Amino acid sequence: MPLINWSENYSVSVKEIDSQHKKLVELINNLHEGMKHGKGKEILGGVLNELVNYTAYHFSFEEKLFDKYVYPETIHHKREHQKLVEKVKSFANDFNNGKTTVSIDVMNFLKDWLINHIQGSDKKYSEFFNSNGIY
Ligand SMILES: [Fe+2]
Ligand SMILES: [Fe+2]
Repeated sequence: MPLINWSENYSVSVKEIDSQHKKLVELINNLHEGMKHGKGKEILGGVLNELVNYTAYHFSFEEKLFDKYVYPETIHHKREHQKLVEKVKSFANDFNNGKTTVSIDVMNFLKDWLINHIQGSDKKYSEFFNSNGIY
């Protein structure tokens, strides 16, 4: 069973962003799967690296839309992105330096890290984007 099951409740009503969020869910699920099957450091590190890179790509995608449409919550939302990136990067660094390992606590942390942001800050832009003709 995957760690995160995509739910329509997670939809932010913008198709491209939903598909990017689904990709992030998939990466976290892959990491979880790798952990469960006792995959080595190399494989887990690779997925983690993919997660860090895709997160950066996804956040900058959202931020470009904020700038383009002058989204009122831009500053707050960008600050939250920055904190999230720092968290996942610092975990990836610790992992790469052998200071920590991928555990169920880490997996739950990543799950909350993503889902709380989607359900909180991301959902707040749905109406704004939809009213600007972005679906
Ligand atoms: Fe997002
Ligand atoms: Fe976001």
